[in-house]
Amino acid sequence: MTPPVPGTPAAPSILEPLALYGAAFAADPHGHYRKLRAQGPLARVRVAPDVDAMLVTDYHAAVDLLRDTATFTKDPRAWQAGVPADSPVLPVLGHRPTALFTDGAVHARYRDAINDTLALIEPHLLRAEVTRVAQRLIADFSATGTGDLIAQYARGLPLHVFTASFGVAPEDTERVVRGTAGMMDPAADATAAYDEVVGVVTALVAERRRRPGRDLTTYLLAHPAGLDDDETVRQITLIMSTGHDPTTNLIGNALLRMLSDTGYGGSLHGGAMTAHEAVNDVLWRDPPLANMGAHFPRHDTEFHGVPLRAGQLVLVSFAAANTQSPPSFTDPAARSGDGAHLAWSTGPHRCPAKQPALLMAMTAIEQLTSQLCDLELAVEPDALVWRPGPFHRAPAHLPVRFTPLDSVPEPAGPGARQATDHVPTRVGGTPNG
Ligand code: HEM
Repeated sequence: MTPPVPGTPAAPSILEPLALYGAAFAADPHGHYRKLRAQGPLARVRVAPDVDAMLVTDYHAAVDLLRDTATFTKDPRAWQAGVPADSPVLPVLGHRPTALFTDGAVHARYRDAINDTLALIEPHLLRAEVTRVAQRLIADFSATGTGDLIAQYARGLPLHVFTASFGVAPEDTERVVRGTAGMMDPAADATAAYDEVVGVVTALVAERRRRPGRDLTTYLLAHPAGLDDDETVRQITLIMSTGHDPTTNLIGNALLRMLSDTGYGGSLHGGAMTAHEAVNDVLWRDPPLANMGAHFPRHDTEFHGVPLRAGQLVLVSFAAANTQSPPSFTDPAARSGDGAHLAWSTGPHRCPAKQPALLMAMTAIEQLTSQLCDLELAVEPDALVWRPGPFHRAPAHLPVRFTPLDSVPEPAGPGARQATDHVPTRVGGTPNG
C-alpha cells in the first residue's frame, strides 16, 4: 500500500493552509480559529513545515469524531510512514505502545490499569504533597520580590508531584523533569529527552519488581491487567508526559487570567476572581491542550460533509470548539458549570486525570496567591510571549513582582512524611482494579 501523503486532504483546497506552529498563531489563536470556522466544520491546517492536517473547529463535529471509533483509529502508523522522520510533531503524534495510540481491547486494558491506579490517589494527601512542593518552590524566589511564575513555579510543580507519587528517587527527579520538558521543547532533542525519561522509569520498574513499595508504580505492576515491564514503563511515561505540560499550562493560564483581570487592576488586591473561576474560564476559552485528539480515518469517508482520506491526520481544536457560536458556548451565564467544555476531550480517550489535575492546579494557585498576596504582572498582558506550537496554549513566561517576604512557612523536609504517602493504605497494597 502506498503510504498516504502526510495530511493531504482528499479534495484539493485553493486556500493555503493556515500555519498553527509559528509566532502569528501563538499571538492570535482565536483569530485563526475564526478564519478556519469560516471554511466549514473542518479546515486544512499546517502543523509543521511539511505536515498538514484537517482541524475540526465545530463543537458537534468534534464530539462526533471523538466518539466515533468505527470510522477513526488512534493508531498513527500508516500516517506516520509518510512524515519526515525529523518532523517536530512526531515526538507528540508518533506511535508509542500506550493508551493514547491504541483502540478497542488493547486500549481498554491500558486504560483500566491507568484509571485504577490514578483512582488510588487520595485527594487530601495529594493536596498535602502539592502544598509541600509549592512551598518549596515559592521559598526559592519569595525573598527577591520578582519571579517568573512559569519557569520558577508552574513548570516544575506537576512533575515533582508525579515523581514522588510514582516513587522516583529524589536524585533521579531532575532527569525526569529535564526529559519531560525536553519532549515538548522544539529546540531540544525530543527523542533523547523521551529516552532519558524511559531510562529512569525502566530502572524504577525493575526495582519495584524486586522490591515493591507504597507508590503508584508498585500498584500499576500489581494491577490485574498484568502489564509487563515495558508496558508499565510506557504507561508511566505517558502519564508523566501527558500530565505535566497541560497541568503547567492550566496553572499558568489561570494565574495570568487572575492577574490580568480588569477587576483586579493588574494585581491580586481586591480579590475579584477566584482560582476556581479563573480555572473554569481557562478551560473554556484557552484550554491547555488547544488542538489535539489526533485521529485517522480507517477508510476514505465523508465526515460532516467533508471528504477525508484513509490514514490522514485529523486533529480536534478543543479551543475552537469551546468558543464557537452559538453564544451559549461563550456566554458565561449560559454555561453549564464546567461539564460541557471539551478541555478534557470526550469519548474513550478523554483525560483520565481530570480530578487530580484540577486539584493540583487549584492547590498550586491557592498556595501562591495566599503567600504572595500582592502579586502583579511585571509587564503588560499584551507584551507576554506565548510558546509557539500547534498543540498547546501556554505563556512562555509570566514575569511578576510582589513585596518580598522576610520568611516563608518552613516547607516540610524530606523526613517529615513519606513522599509516596498519598497512595492510600485502604486497599492493602494492591490496586482495586
Ligand atoms: C494530573 C495531570 C494529568 C494526567 C496524569 C493526565 C493523563 C492523561 C492520559 C494518560 C491521557 C491519555 C488517555 C487515553 O488515551 O485514554 C490523557 C489525555 C488527555 N488529557 Fe490529560 N492528564 C493530566 C492533565 C490534563 C490537563 C490539565 C488537561 C487539560 C485541561 C488534560 C487534557 C487531556 C486531553 C484533552 C486528553 C486527550 C488527548 C487526545 O485526545 O489526544 N489533561 N491525559
